[in-house]
Amino acid sequence: MTQDGYNHQGMAADAQRIQVRGLGKTFILHNQGGTRLPVLQAIDFDAAAGECLVLAGSSGAGKSTLLRCLYGNYLATEGSIRIRDNDAWVELTRAPEQRILQLRREVIGYVSQFLHVIPRVSTLDVVAEPLQQRGASADEARERAAVLLARLQVPGRLWSLPPATFSGGEQQRVNIARGLIGGHPVLLLDEPTASLDAGNRAVVVALIREALAEGRCLVGIFHDEAVREAVATRLLPLHPPAVLEAAPAGKLAAVAG
Ligand SMILES: Nc1ncnc2c1ncn2[C@@H]1O[C@H](COP(=O)(O)OP(=O)(O)OP(=O)(O)O)[C@@H](O)[C@H]1O
Ligand SMILES: [Mg+2]
Repeated sequence: MTQDGYNHQGMAADAQRIQVRGLGKTFILHNQGGTRLPVLQAIDFDAAAGECLVLAGSSGAGKSTLLRCLYGNYLATEGSIRIRDNDAWVELTRAPEQRILQLRREVIGYVSQFLHVIPRVSTLDVVAEPLQQRGASADEARERAAVLLARLQVPGRLWSLPPATFSGGEQQRVNIARGLIGGHPVLLLDEPTASLDAGNRAVVVALIREALAEGRCLVGIFHDEAVREAVATRLLPLHPPAVLEAAPAGKLAAVAG
């Protein structure tokens, strides 16, 4: 057993939430003469309930790209990404669009770095929506949204307004509340505390720890050292591919061959 109470070697199979094997992602830039940009290569990891796996690496190492692959937003070029949906494993790289949309409703939550604002929808409803999509009543979802917004110190006078004109930090807190509310068993976080002051960062750390205690499985990017120390149960270092620098397709084939 490790300090966090998990036996990583003998991890119970039903605690596993994510299995990644041999994952590779190469972007092909069609408007740049088909230039190939290898970003992820041979990535392997597992993540279980109650774990917070933190993606580490320099800017451009592929951290956000990996999160997007885990959300089914970018299609992997190689390898396998399996996500646990109750009793079944779903191979994300081969799942049809409808299945991916269902996973996003029920299994995988995602807090992007910036809020994608939905025009004309109030902040309270923006936050409540993912919980309603999981079957909660409108009243119940709004109640829970109010609790989260209050904890994240978003002033009550803003709740009835759409968040489009909010400050960066206010939008980020709305985004975090929207990501957490659904109770998704897998939660992906892309720098959720980047625009927050120390007080708000501490609230987010507390919410993340509660999510872990509830047995949710988190994969996140946290540039803030203190936040990372406070939430990470494990680090996954990512390195930009060393040999295969951006090169025209022909040249790259020569390197690979
Ligand atoms: N849609 C895309 N098309 C082409 N290239 C992309 C695309 N998305 C990401 N990349 C490239 O992939 C590389 C990794 O980008 P990514 O955003 O994953 O880095 P990161 O580790 O999250 O960096 P940062 O810490 O700066 O956020 C970059 O070189 C980037 O230009
Ligand atoms: Mg990034």
